[in-house]
Order: sequence, then C-alpha cells, then structure tokens
Amino acid sequence: MKNKIIVTGGCGYIGSHTVIELLENNYDVVILDDLSNSTEDTLDRILKITGTKPTFVNVDLKDETATKAIFQKHKDAKAVINFAAHKAVGESVKEPLMYYRNNLYSLINVLSSQIENNIEGFIFSSSATVYGTPETLPITEKDETQRPFSPYGNTKKIAEEIIDDVIKSNSNLQSISLRYFNPIGAHESGLIGELPSGIPNNLMPYITQTAAGIREKLMVYGNDYPTKDGTPIRDYIHVVDLAKAHVLAVERILKKEQDEAFEVFNLGTGNGFSVLDVINSFEKVTNSKLNYEIVERRPGDVPKLYAATNLAKEKLGWSADKSLDEMIKSSWDWEQKFRKQNTN
Ligand code: WQD
Repeated sequence: MKNKIIVTGGCGYIGSHTVIELLENNYDVVILDDLSNSTEDTLDRILKITGTKPTFVNVDLKDETATKAIFQKHKDAKAVINFAAHKAVGESVKEPLMYYRNNLYSLINVLSSQIENNIEGFIFSSSATVYGTPETLPITEKDETQRPFSPYGNTKKIAEEIIDDVIKSNSNLQSISLRYFNPIGAHESGLIGELPSGIPNNLMPYITQTAAGIREKLMVYGNDYPTKDGTPIRDYIHVVDLAKAHVLAVERILKKEQDEAFEVFNLGTGNGFSVLDVINSFEKVTNSKLNYEIVERRPGDVPKLYAATNLAKEKLGWSADKSLDEMIKSSWDWEQKFRKQNTN
C-alpha cells in the first residue's frame, strides 16, 4: 500500500515540483487546488513526467464544509503538505484582508479537517520572510522571528504561530515548517516551472521575461545597500532541491523521527548572491546582454538574507547542490520552452 499525501496548492510552482518528487518516491498524491494562480494542464504535465496523473479536486479551502468533506473522503491520508496560499508581496500590501482571509482561513480549515480525521502529519510552506531584517547572518532557525514587512509575510509568521498553538493543544498532530529562501529554476523536463500571472514581482522571472522580450527592461531596485556591490544579497535555491526536502520532511514525520512535534527548517543553499551576481551569471550562461537600469530602492527589501543550512542537513539529511549558474540556466530553459509551447 502506498502512503497517501494530500497536497494543497499542488498545481502551483513549488507544489507541482513537490508532487513529482512524491510520485517518484512511490507516494499516492491527492491535489487540492482552486486554480486561482495555476492551471489544470499541470496535471497532464505531471503525467508526462511521472507516468501518473494524481487525483485532483478543485476546491476553495476557505470553504469549511467543502474542505471537511474532502478530508473525510481521504481520511486514509498520512500527511498534508500545505502550499495553497496567495504569495504576491505588493498585492498583499494593497489587499491585506484578502491575504489574511485566504491564507489563514484555508490553514484553519485544513488543520481542523485533518485533526477531525486523525491525519497526523502537516508540512507547512513557510518563508525566510519570517526573519524580517536579521541582525546576524547566516540566519539560524533559533533566531527570533520578526514581524515581516508585508501582510503576505505576516500570514506566514501568524500561520507558524497557529500551528504551534494547535500542536500544543493536540498531541497527535506532527508538523514541520519549511522556511524557503528564494526559490528559482524549473524541472529539467521543461514541462513545469514558475508561471507568474501578469508582471512578475520576483527577480528571476523578471530577468527571463526581459531577455525573452516580454518586458522592456529590468529595474534593479537600488545599488546603495551595504553589500559588496551595493545590491541586495539573497539565497537562491533550485525548486527541485526544495521539492526533495518536502519528501524528506514527510519521511521524517512518518518514521516518527522528530525531536519535537513542531519543527522548523531553513531551506536555502547557505550562499548569498547579489542582484548583480544574478545578472552577471545570467549574461554568462545565456551569452547575451540583459537590458537593465539601476533605480530607487523597493520599500521593504532587506540588504542581506541567507540561510544557515546545518539543521536541515543534520535532521533531514538534505542539502541543496545546484550552483547559481545551473539554477539560472534551468529558469531560462523553462522560459524558452514554455513560450515555444504556448506560441505553437
Ligand atoms: C530579490 C532581489 C529585489 C525584482 C520575495 C518575498 C519572499 C518570497 C520570495 C514568495 C531583491 C531585487 C527584484 C526586480 C530587482 N516569497 N529585484 N528587480 O524580495 O527576496 O523575496 O519573494 O512567495 O517572501 O519577500 O525576492 O525575487 O522579489 O527579489 O532588483 O524587478 O531582487 O530588490 O533585492 P525577495 P525577489
């Protein structure tokens, strides 16, 4: 019997890559997704890559009755991986209630439905944004969290606090929160990758769309930060490396290897790269020049953020091994293949 895992948001960017890793590691997958920022043809792409089409339910997880009914139907599941959430930082500043309602109602409905059905494992898709502006680097999981700049980021911090409280009240729930640094890249098949709707907020898709001629020019938000070249430093991590960590987190819970009922791990490479490093690597890998301009700082950006990675290595047996050049090449391959698929 295969172990069944419920994946909310499984048609999205990180969710779909994780579904592939789960299927390739012999799990049964049920995807719950409202397709608000993804499309159903992801399922066919997953089928092409893995030979399996996961079970799919189109559901709005803000709907408590509908969520409970689905969990009742899949109560033989062993764990839930919760990716479903809105994630655009700028939009969350303009529409905070939409973000709190979507990201937190869905979390509450999922947690209560799984507790009702005795599904013990819960893996949460968190973010390095919960560290706010850190005082020391690299950031360890023991460092204090701070109120993030954006409502989006705050939903991640509040969600971790909710999980912590629920765990303390319910001895059966076992949870791992994975704090992602900056996920980039795409599956090597070129069949799935990041598909931001509208103008991208994040650096990597903005670069690839600029190089593909969809955007005129990349705006580099400030070069007067206290870093080696003045542009902010981030810890970019390949999405497939990230996806693999979720499988290891599921295993850790199912094998009852946790030290505590609620654990938190950073998922990054531990290497910091500046915006100009990323641009230089992109130009080298693609042998082309990128059109960009240095402009004012973007509000809320922290100067430097990179992970301490030893805890994930020690406890999950996980580390990221893709280089910046490999990550960037894979983002660019996806951009090109995706545009080709969609102009044919
Ligand atoms: C990286 C660097 C920008 C765009 C955000 C969220 C985080 C997580 C990932 C996701 C910064 C610079 C960017 C551009 C630029 N959430 N930049 N021009 O801000 O580290 O993290 O995304 O769901 O919670 O906060 O990532 O890719 O937006 O920016 O110069 O057009 O690139 O200033 O220094 P960030 P990013």
